Amino acid sequence: MSAPVKLCPSAELLDSGRAHVFDMIEFGRPVRGFVLRYEGQLAAYVNRCAHVPTEMDWQPGEFFDDSRHYIVCSMHGAVYHPTDGLCVGGPCAGARLMPLRVEERDGQVYWYPSDRFRPAFAD
Ligand code: FES
Repeated sequence: MSAPVKLCPSAELLDSGRAHVFDMIEFGRPVRGFVLRYEGQLAAYVNRCAHVPTEMDWQPGEFFDDSRHYIVCSMHGAVYHPTDGLCVGGPCAGARLMPLRVEERDGQVYWYPSDRFRPAFAD
């Protein structure tokens, strides 16, 4: 397994607030991931809607809907539950966002790259 990548200070991720977006490489191509906090826990996914493979944030790092309880895709309004990435409304209900492994320790947020999603600076 690749070494963890430091993403941001824990304090940057407010509950139901703006996400930290970061660059990755998937099969040689650039793709972005994001990590946010919901009900105190971190959740991280590939920034790719399950409906059409496009980025979802309506402003950079802004994924939450007006209720601040769901991740919403800015393209056609798919609604995802933050804790498990399940689409609970919209054109791809029942599909899921692709999760990424993250961890919080000593006041920092780390991402654990995989064989599929690698650090952008390593390629
Ligand atoms: S691309 Fe996300 S809802 Fe259509």
